[in-house]
Formats: sequence, C-alpha cells, structure tokens
Amino acid sequence: MKFQVKLGDIKSIKCDAIILNLFEGVKVPSGATAVVDKALGNAISDLIKTGELKGKPNEIQVIHTLGKLPARLVLVVGLGKKEEFATEKLRNAMGEAVRALRQHSCKSAATVLHDAGDGGVDATEAAQAIAGGCLLGLYQFRKHLTKKDEQKEIDELTILEKDASKQNLIKKGLNQGIIVAEAVILARNMVNEPANFMTPSHMAQIARETADKNGLDVMIMDRGQMEKEKMGALLGVAQGSNQPPKFIVMKYLGDPSVKSSIGFIGKGLTFDSGGISLKPQDFMSDMKGDMSGGAVVIAAIGAIAALKLKINVTAIVPATENLPGGKALKPGDVLKASNGKTIEVVNTDAEGRLILADALSYAVKNDISPLVDLATLTGACHVALGDLYAGLFANNQKVADNVLNAGKKAGESLWQLPLPEEYKELNKSDVADIKNSGGRYGGAITAALFLQEFVGKTPWVHLDIAAPFMSDKTKGILVKGATGFGVRTLISLAMILSKSK
Ligand code: BES
Ligand code: MN
Ligand code: ZN
Repeated sequence: MKFQVKLGDIKSIKCDAIILNLFEGVKVPSGATAVVDKALGNAISDLIKTGELKGKPNEIQVIHTLGKLPARLVLVVGLGKKEEFATEKLRNAMGEAVRALRQHSCKSAATVLHDAGDGGVDATEAAQAIAGGCLLGLYQFRKHLTKKDEQKEIDELTILEKDASKQNLIKKGLNQGIIVAEAVILARNMVNEPANFMTPSHMAQIARETADKNGLDVMIMDRGQMEKEKMGALLGVAQGSNQPPKFIVMKYLGDPSVKSSIGFIGKGLTFDSGGISLKPQDFMSDMKGDMSGGAVVIAAIGAIAALKLKINVTAIVPATENLPGGKALKPGDVLKASNGKTIEVVNTDAEGRLILADALSYAVKNDISPLVDLATLTGACHVALGDLYAGLFANNQKVADNVLNAGKKAGESLWQLPLPEEYKELNKSDVADIKNSGGRYGGAITAALFLQEFVGKTPWVHLDIAAPFMSDKTKGILVKGATGFGVRTLISLAMILSKSK
C-alpha cells in the first residue's frame, strides 16, 4: 500500500472511497465532513439525526455516493469522544476503516487530517497514526494458504491537505508510521509462523537479514560458544531439542559520541511444550509464539536504525525450543548460569526465566544499561491483568517511568506490579542458590524476582507480555493472532531517550 499527500479538494478527488472521521456526539459536522455532507444532500447529518451514526470508537458507516461525488463511497468512522481523543483512537479507527474498504473492493482511498487537528494532535503524529493504522489493520498471515489471495488489496491512500506548510510534516509522519508498522508486521509474521519454520536458526537468519538491511552489527553464538560462556541455564533448556540453540546479539550505534548502550532482551522460545513438565494440550499450539519477546526486540532495533535515532541499542535473544525427550532436563536437575549462580529446576515449564538468566547475565557482563526485557513469561500475568495489559516490573523507577510513558505514547497498555522483598523466599531452594518456580500465587511476581537475581544493580525493566502477545479478536489495529506487542513501546522508548540527551 502506498501513501501520498496531495494539495486538493475532498469533493473533487477521484478514488474508490473517501474516509472521514467523526467525534462522538457531534450533531453538526464541520470541515471536510460538512463539505461532503452538503454534496451528498445531508446524508451524513441525516444519519446522525436518526442515531444511525454516533461517532463511537471504531464505528463505521458506509455511504454510496451514487454519482454525487467522483468517489464511489464515503466511509465515516467514529473517533469516540473528543475529550478522550488520542492518536491511538485514530490509528484504530483507520484499522477498522481499511478493513471495511477491503470488503467493499476499494483499491484507492483519500482522507484528510482535520478531525485529528481538532483533537489537538499535530500533523506528523496524525499522519503516522493513519499510515500505521492502515498497514496494521490490513495485516493478514496468509503465507501457508495455497489458495492465493483473491481479495483486492488497497493500493493507495491519499491525504489531502490544503496547507502547503503541513505537507512535509505529513510526509515525515507517513514515513515514520510505515517504518514502525513494518517492524510490527515483521514481529507478527515471526510469531504467527509455525515452530517447524520459526526455529532458533531461522530466527537467527531473520536477525541477520534485519541487521544487513539496516546496517547493524550482528553476532550469533552457537552451542559451542554458549558452552565457552558457561551459559548452563540456556543450554539446559536447549538440551532436550534437536534444533541447535542460537544466542543472537544485534547492535545499533546511533550515537557514537557515547560508549553506553541500552539493552533490549527478548525471550526466544520458538516452541514451549513445557518439557518433561509437559503442558496440557489445550492451546499448546499458541506456544509457537513463545518467541514473541525475541521477535519484538529484533524488529524494534531494525526500526530504530531505520529511523536513525541518536541512541545506541543492543538487542539480545536467547533462542531455543523446550521439548521433552531422552536428553531433556528433568525436574530436580540443577543448572549453573553464566554468572555462577546455581538453579534448581523444579518445573521444566518455567524455562523462560532460565534462558533469560543467561541473557541478562551476558548483558550485565557487557555493561549494557539500562536493560528492558520482554517475555511471554507467565500465565499468571495473564490471570492478573487480563488480555490487554503487559505486567511491568522494575528495580529502578526512573527507567520504569520512561517505559510507562513510552507505552502510553505507543498505545500499548502496561501496568506496574511490585517486586516485594518478602516474596523472595518463595524462590529459595534446598539444594541450589535459587529454584525456577515460586509456586502458584503471585506467579508473575516470583518469576520477575527470579530474573532480578541476574541483573545485579543494573537498572532494569521486565515486561511480561504473556497476555497481549496474541489477540483472540480482530479489532482496530489488532488482527486475530500475533499482535507484535512491545515493538511500538520500544521504539517510543528509544525516541524518548534519544531526545532527552
Ligand atoms: N511460555 C509460558 C507462559 C505462557 C503461557 C505464555 C501461556 C503465554 C501464554 C511459560 O514458559 C510457562 O510455561 N510458564 C509457567 C510457569 C510456571 C511453571 C511456574 C506458567 O505460567 O504456567
Ligand atoms: Mn514454559
Ligand atoms: Zn515459555
């Protein structure tokens, strides 16, 4: 899909559909909506009067112009209450709008920014939301369908803007929106990809391609190098699988004037069966997405480089499968992580924290700071916060606040949970320094407390994305399946940190 900005009039543009936005509760349309309403003989205001069009978030009304305008259709999409407006509303509205256009076989569409302007959002941000909303809303994972796509795809969206001085701001926003959305799509594709394709080696391959495309350094450790690094926890999880594990490190040097680098660490479990502590069969296939954190950090660092942000970033992904078998870890086994700590594996299904133990130790050893890790770590976090929120844990409130702000900007919901000293005893083992499960209660917290043991004093934020990594419905910019949750927060965080210098 292509995006362009044109100086032009919404009434005279020739395309399949015009997309207009409407705030909830507006009785008399203004701006472009008013112009089109008049051309259509008050069709829009009539719908408002009869209550068929309310402007509720994501509401869609399709009006056939029947020759009254050069465009075949007018689509009015609700933005919700003006007081509650945020770019996320516009992004989601566009996601709904483009799916409606696809259903109506539209190939070209045009829109304006004016309602976003009324909502107090600047032109660049609005344009970014429009491009992002379109690309993410149209996303589909059809790679393995042999019947090729017969649906017509939308080829182009034109943004009409009368103010010539705004056109460059809009172009800049469109460009940013495309880069960010493409990163989210990369992450979604990796997560939706079945585990027989998305192996640790394949993840490493994608990391290499992403690095080459964006001029990043990349280093991939194989089993032998992990042995040299004494990554006993990661190797322990990997020993049950025939797929060789990979330890992926990508580096973006956007600010050569400083030595320091922020670290993004992502759990790269390409399939989590639970191991000998085998999972029940319901939803086990979802565990092809247990590498979501890894996919997110690979995609995000690529976009941060493409956006040329003035910041240094290191992305680290420990990648492996967790399978049962003759060589697999057994409950009761003791492993030694690369920082020298011993771990009793009481449950082989608590494997995420094991591989992250070595990844975090590696980051700390290499003076990467602050650290942000993303992991589909615990079902308990899903139980605690529901479908939409990721749990946030931190040993440093300043970094936590930056990540919380980044999430807000990106429209990804984060909620901070505590790291209470008193719960540390739940992770105590009789035979090793720590055990890998603290039991059922507060499971997201004890998992985070386990990770904390491997970061030392390095400022660190942990995001448990076990709930939002997948969506069971198609809504706004979300499409059933992988969400790519976290990509936009990490990019926003890099923007915030690069600006605060
Ligand atoms: N990958 C799972 C967590 C998960 C479950 C993520 C469902 C997304 C959806 C993780 O490795 C796991 O199995 N965690 C266990 C920990 C327990 C054994 C302490 C869990 O949550 O049950
Ligand atoms: Mn598990
Ligand atoms: Zn897992």
